Amino acid sequence: MYTNWLNDILRCPETHETLIFDGNSYASDGKVYKVENDILSIVFPDQLAGNDSKYNKFYNILAPLYDLNERVMGKLLVGVDMVKGRKQIVSFLGLKPGMRILEVSPGPGVFQKYLRNDIGEKGELVALDLSMGMLCQCQKRNKKLNVQLIHGNAQYLPFADNSFDALYHFGGINLFNDPQKAISEFIRIVKKGGIVSWGDEGFSENYRNVPKKKLMLKINPGFGKPRPVVPDSVYDVKENEVYDGLAYLIVANKK
Ligand SMILES: C[S@@+](CC[C@H](N)C(=O)[O-])C[C@H]1O[C@@H](n2cnc3c(N)ncnc32)[C@H](O)[C@@H]1O
Repeated sequence: MYTNWLNDILRCPETHETLIFDGNSYASDGKVYKVENDILSIVFPDQLAGNDSKYNKFYNILAPLYDLNERVMGKLLVGVDMVKGRKQIVSFLGLKPGMRILEVSPGPGVFQKYLRNDIGEKGELVALDLSMGMLCQCQKRNKKLNVQLIHGNAQYLPFADNSFDALYHFGGINLFNDPQKAISEFIRIVKKGGIVSWGDEGFSENYRNVPKKKLMLKINPGFGKPRPVVPDSVYDVKENEVYDGLAYLIVANKK
C-alpha cells in the first residue's frame, strides 16, 4: 500500500524506534498500529487531551462541508478568493519535481493538486492529519493524486529524522496543544537544507480594516493568537502574507 521508501522511514511516534510490518499492521515494543482503508492509524498519545481532543471532534464532523464552508465564508465575510489563495501559498514553497514532501494537517486535501503538480509524478506526497474524517475526504477528493495518507498527531510525527525534502503545514497550528513542539517535529523529519514551511491565520502588520478585524476575531479566536517562535535551527526564513493579509506563511530551510 505505501511505497518502500515510506515503509522504511515510518517510526514509532513516541520512541522513534523502527516498526515491524507484517503485511497488515505495524508494531513496535508490543504496540500495534493498524491499517484500515489504506490509512495507517498511528496517533500518539492514545488519549487526546485539551485542544487536540476538542478540535478533533469538531473537524471530524465538519470534514464533508469544510471546503465549501471555507470558500463561501471566505468570499462573503472577507472577500477572499480561497482557491486563488491556496495556489499562491503553494507557489511560495519552491517545490521541485521528484521531491518527497509531507503535508501535515491537509484537512480534506485542498492543496494536494497543487503540491502534486509541483513535485510531479515521481515525487512522493504523504499527508498526515489527526482527523480520520478529513483523511476520508482526501481519499474521495484526490483519488488520482497518489497521496499516501496517515492518521497521526503533528506533535508526534511517526517518521525518522531527516527523511523528507520538504514539510508543509497550513491552518492547524493555532489549534494544537503545543505549536512549538509541532514546529520542532516539522524540522526534525526534514533533511538538512530541506524546506520547512508553516502558516495559519494572523493579520499582517499592514492589515488596517478594523471592522473586519473585529469580525474575524469574534468568529475565530485563532486570529488573536501570538505566532509561534521561528527556531534558530532554520535559516533563510521568509515570511509571506497570504489570503490578502489575513494569514501568514513561513518558508525556511533546515540548518
Ligand atoms: C483549519 S483545518 C486546515 C485544513 C487545510 N490545511 C487548510 O488550510 O484548509 C485544520 C486541520 O488541522 C488538523 N489538526 C488539528 N489538530 C491536529 C494535530 N494535533 N495533528 C495533526 N492535524 C491536526 C485538523 O484535523 C484539520 O484537518
